[in-house]
Amino acid sequence: MNQDSQILFTSKTIGTVTIKNRFVRSATFENAANKDGSIGEEYIKIYEKLSKGEIGLIITGMIHTSDDGRSYHRQAGLHSDATIPGFSAMNETVHKNGCRIFAQLCHGGRQSMVLGLRPPAPSACRPDLTYRVYPRAMSNEEILFAIKTLAVGAKRAQKAGFDGIQIHAAHGYLISEFLSPYFNRRTDEWGGNPEKRFNLLKRVYESMREAVGSAYPITVKINIEDHTPKPGVTLEETAGYIQKLVHLGIDAIEISCGTVSFSLFNQCRGNVPVRALAKVMIKPIQPVTRFVLKREFPEEKYVFYENYNLWACNDIKPLMGNTPLILVGGLRNYESMEKIVREQKADFVSLCRPFIRQPMIVKNWRNGDIKKITCNNCNNCFGYLPLDESIQCNLNRDF
Ligand SMILES: Cc1cc2nc3c(=O)[nH]c(=O)nc-3n(C[C@H](O)[C@H](O)[C@H](O)COP(=O)(O)O)c2cc1C
Repeated sequence: MNQDSQILFTSKTIGTVTIKNRFVRSATFENAANKDGSIGEEYIKIYEKLSKGEIGLIITGMIHTSDDGRSYHRQAGLHSDATIPGFSAMNETVHKNGCRIFAQLCHGGRQSMVLGLRPPAPSACRPDLTYRVYPRAMSNEEILFAIKTLAVGAKRAQKAGFDGIQIHAAHGYLISEFLSPYFNRRTDEWGGNPEKRFNLLKRVYESMREAVGSAYPITVKINIEDHTPKPGVTLEETAGYIQKLVHLGIDAIEISCGTVSFSLFNQCRGNVPVRALAKVMIKPIQPVTRFVLKREFPEEKYVFYENYNLWACNDIKPLMGNTPLILVGGLRNYESMEKIVREQKADFVSLCRPFIRQPMIVKNWRNGDIKKITCNNCNNCFGYLPLDESIQCNLNRDF
């Protein structure tokens, strides 16, 4: 490693917390919690391994904070005080290994596999074929309840020893749905124009801030583009939201794209693992499911290319003043990550799929062993979700 390439191993603060290097493990759903949302050895092992790999900041997979905000069967929860001890044990291990860890808190909204046919959403709309649900519009009371439970969840995360919070406002879950003109057709105080669509995120941030105090880092993950069938958030709108968040005092922002329902493979560019995804269906209808998936998600539309969200940094970074920007999406090459940070396109480089396969790679890099990332974006890691097994790398496994 030459002198210049050391920049990825310089420390930087997020709010009051110092991160020892510029590598972030982007939130990665584990599918490894117990069915009651508590966590045990299987979940903790994932984080022990990641922290041994010397990643500066680890962001957990999405954690729900209320039963009505839960998306997946094996999703971890901070919906009850009873789950705090498990997270405390995990955080102690991560801290012993010198890493920081933030909890990603999420209300799933319409993207839920566990709430039955009518999950809550900003507006009622056509059936969602990915989750096989028929979203219904939330009442004002339900919205206020969601805000409250997210704030209580943040307080629990603080009690459990997390170093900070990431609000999940990306990928088509509830807050992202409210930000989007595609999902949010309301005309009350929660929708109708960008200011009102921002209201939920603003209120969640303010309530969390009140719960955890001014010194505790709160960050946001937000989409630069939704890639929905009709326009969702655009870079212009997101830029406005980011300016507002910076003004409110947010401690860092991670930019991403896509929704799970409509554009998972914009979010995670690469192969479309139709065989793995069809496993959500019973055996007799898997062949037809594969056919439909191939038609709906033609692979040529989602071809992987490196740093696919980098294009937005030139617009976003100047809006952020001293607030750190975290970039995720196809970061795969050490030299180009180094360039991104050196040229101040972003302050942190965030990776998801590569750390499923190579959790130790940052440690290798720190030791001067510039190993290549061998994740080939086959996206078979998603195949474990319907199997109810914890997410793993199984390069090109034929499910
Ligand atoms: C298996 C899997 C699970 C994911 N879970 C989450 C999650 O819980 N929260 C989130 O914000 N993003 C999640 N993502 C998206 C990643 O954080 C990241 O934005 C995306 O994979 C692009 O980064 P990459 O090219 O480094 O993989 C997930 C991605 C994968 C592949």
